[in-house]
Amino acid sequence: MTGPPVVILTGAGISAESGLGTFRDVGGLWSRYDWRDLATPEGFARDPGFVLDFYNWRRERVRAASPNAVHLALARLARDYGGPVTLITQNVDDLHERAGHAGVIHMHGTHLTALCAACGHRWPAPEVMHPRDPCPACAAAKTRPDVVWFGETPYHMDLIAEALAKAALFVSIGTSGTVYPAAAFAARARAAGARTVELNLEPSENKSLFDEAYHGPASEIVPRWVDSHLAD
Ligand code: OAD
Repeated sequence: MTGPPVVILTGAGISAESGLGTFRDVGGLWSRYDWRDLATPEGFARDPGFVLDFYNWRRERVRAASPNAVHLALARLARDYGGPVTLITQNVDDLHERAGHAGVIHMHGTHLTALCAACGHRWPAPEVMHPRDPCPACAAAKTRPDVVWFGETPYHMDLIAEALAKAALFVSIGTSGTVYPAAAFAARARAAGARTVELNLEPSENKSLFDEAYHGPASEIVPRWVDSHLAD
């Protein structure tokens, strides 16, 4: 491991070309649904059936999707780069893993597990979650998706802080840069001395934080960027 440490942050834009909707683009999930109803603990407390139905539908969409050229290119980077690559994703799908990428940090959780809101136990997500499902550990009927909602603390923040502090290169891919704390990672990596690169369909909210930027569909710009980084 001799190459300088690389930290990559991915968002919904990298799974768009696998057919999974983003959140804030025109027609995105949060233009069709109210995130207060579907992505907050308060919304879940008000109407658990509605929230579970939404995530059952999204889980089904993820199951039917396949990794695209972006997931494959990033897995290739992790495999072939002669240095540490830390991949942090805001995505709750498992397309990085299905592309062969190991050790992905899912800061917003994952569709693959269910979480008991009463005792914190996790277990493999059933195909369909129902409000009456009992927790296998404590039997409470408080099953929820293991995804981080607004107002909750993202997962693995210590691991992420350590990676950002050591990064020589920080690359943000397919994210609008609007949701914190992820939106602050480019600034934190830069303050710690990293060069920063943005790969996105269009300039993000964070565009002033990047030393370099490439805009276009991720399936075109990411494999090209990976090739050039591996050739360096
Ligand atoms: P957003 O929907 O906010 O942003 C997606 C970004 O991807 C936008 O900047 C698009 O321009 C870009 N994009 C769309 N299609 C693309 C393509 N084919 N190639 C490259 N870029 C493309 O999604 P996130 O930034 O991931 O959180 O959203 C962050 C968080 O907000 C999500 O993790 C989710 C959401 O609320 C939770 O659920 C907690």
